[in-house]
Amino acid sequence: MKLPNLQIGELIAKIPIIQGGMGAAVSRSGLASAVANEGGIGVISGVHTGFDEPDFETNNKDANIRGLRKEIRKARELSPKGIIGVNFLVAMKAYQELAMTAIEEKIDLIISGAGLPKELPLIAKGSRTKIVPIVSSGRAADLISKLWDQKSSSAPDMVIVEGPEAGGHLGFSLEQLTPENKPNLEDLIKDVIQAIKPYAEKYCKHIPVIAAGGIFSGTDIAKFLKLGAQGVQIGTRFVATEECDADIRFKQAFINSKAEDIQIIKSPVGMPGRAIRNKFLESLEKSNISIKKCYNCIKTCNPASTPYCISKALVEAVRGNIDDGLIFSGSNAYRIDKIVTVRELIYELVTEAELALA
Ligand SMILES: Cc1cc2nc3c(=O)[nH]c(=O)nc-3n(C[C@H](O)[C@H](O)[C@H](O)COP(=O)(O)O)c2cc1C
Repeated sequence: MKLPNLQIGELIAKIPIIQGGMGAAVSRSGLASAVANEGGIGVISGVHTGFDEPDFETNNKDANIRGLRKEIRKARELSPKGIIGVNFLVAMKAYQELAMTAIEEKIDLIISGAGLPKELPLIAKGSRTKIVPIVSSGRAADLISKLWDQKSSSAPDMVIVEGPEAGGHLGFSLEQLTPENKPNLEDLIKDVIQAIKPYAEKYCKHIPVIAAGGIFSGTDIAKFLKLGAQGVQIGTRFVATEECDADIRFKQAFINSKAEDIQIIKSPVGMPGRAIRNKFLESLEKSNISIKKCYNCIKTCNPASTPYCISKALVEAVRGNIDDGLIFSGSNAYRIDKIVTVRELIYELVTEAELALA
């Protein structure tokens, strides 16, 4: 059976695969446009988009806004007909300015997690940009839908449900991430489908629900489509592609990782995260890593007490300074054994999924 399209209002992606936004700068215009050209949705990470601008250290916010514009324009040039989104963490101090910049650049979608994007409908008002919260429970889906309903008489254009096997920041407490308490994504999907039903009805709107976290194969994709999801968001597998924007050493860290290397960490963003164990994480177990420069970027971060600067750690990693950086990854990173092109990966996923759906 052919994979269904993913329809978000008037946007139609030929295949129901979203490449998850990966910060900092792991997914930029290169990866996002390659995915969009294959019929999926490519997502640029909105975290430190200016990391290679000359004034990144001295004029961080402006460098990031400029970098964001450049990346969106580049992605459009590389994929004029593709669907391109951008991902912002609600926890970022410059959230509003960055989101407004993306809307000015006529981005197709803004996807937002690491907090509830309460103000997003007001920021996007009057634009054609679709707005998409990332949630980790039916309760959170209901909460954000209720807030948008009350504050701006609107409902989400799509909802991404990110389960506990995802990479990057996780919307669960440390206790919820223990093997005995960990919720499974299948149950979360069912809960979210129920939670958003009243809002879809009220606004006479189809709100696609997307499954994310630990989706590795086409068979996984088919499983979530059968459960009622309209698509999937995948991060980890897109790291090991030629088009991924990270340094080759970042990609190799995924290929070289073993199951026991993938661990839960604490982040200054105030949520747990998942990353590959390396010298950086080992040294953090012994002592905090002092902060030489504060980028003033995360709402919840106090530079006087934070154990490390997450911005520096992420930027070091994406530049390939692997021993000094934080390598976010999903729980399945160790299953990857080679770098392929985005076209090859998508072909493999789609073929497997279609077979499993048949
Ligand atoms: C290296 C890396 C960086 C990530 N950064 C972000 C981010 O900045 N914002 C976000 O919402 N999700 C982030 N994520 C999560 C992905 O977008 C995606 O939803 C998740 O990884 C899906 O699980 P998977 O990796 O098992 O496919 C990141 C994931 C990885 C692997």
